[in-house]
Amino acid sequence: MAQLRWLGHAAVELYLNGKHIIIDPMIKDNPLSPVKLSYFDNNLDLIIVTHDHYDHLGDTVELMKMNPKAYLYATYDLENYLATQFAISWDRIIPANVGGYVDFNGINLALTKAVHSSEHSDPTGTIISSEGVTIYHAGDTGLFEDMKLIGDLFKPDYVLLPIGGRFTMDPYQASIAVEMLKPKKYAIPIHYNTWDLIKVDPNVFSTEVTKRGYRALILQPGQSVEL
Ligand code: NI
Ligand code: MN
Repeated sequence: MAQLRWLGHAAVELYLNGKHIIIDPMIKDNPLSPVKLSYFDNNLDLIIVTHDHYDHLGDTVELMKMNPKAYLYATYDLENYLATQFAISWDRIIPANVGGYVDFNGINLALTKAVHSSEHSDPTGTIISSEGVTIYHAGDTGLFEDMKLIGDLFKPDYVLLPIGGRFTMDPYQASIAVEMLKPKKYAIPIHYNTWDLIKVDPNVFSTEVTKRGYRALILQPGQSVEL
């Protein structure tokens, strides 16, 4: 059973191919998170980090300590920084960069371009594919035309897109992204209404997505969807 749960902001929890995965795990400083960090007590298999801004790197280091079986997936440079600074063993790191699929226990993982900034490496989006379901989490990004290529290459069923504006795409721009990505199932808005600086109306996104012939799914923080 494949399941996706939005934990508010860019944090997304997945159950896929029997594995427990979290993307961009800001939990402690996330006012929208429905769970406390202790919820992830030695039950995570994989932590994916799109880039090292604090609202995405979040509690990664602590979670790696709390979850001795968990692996880390990010760009090589960010992995190298975390390994060096926080003594994370390379035995628990999946070396990667933007490119083709990497197999992790029957789950295909890829990193994609993102138009944004970061401190120790280039920012990315990520693709997760298993059990016949492909999910694209765009990380933080502005709108860019190569999203067409991401759509053509990976054929996502679900796309998770930041819509908060200011630091990323806004709802209107994100609806153009949906048109380029062509999700087979749903476009899910993330990275909005966490703080006042990224306050937007997600219904603008749904309306624009619908106009373009695709389906949007607005989740409440803590709400999950069967994939
Ligand atoms: Ni960022
Ligand atoms: Mn961010």
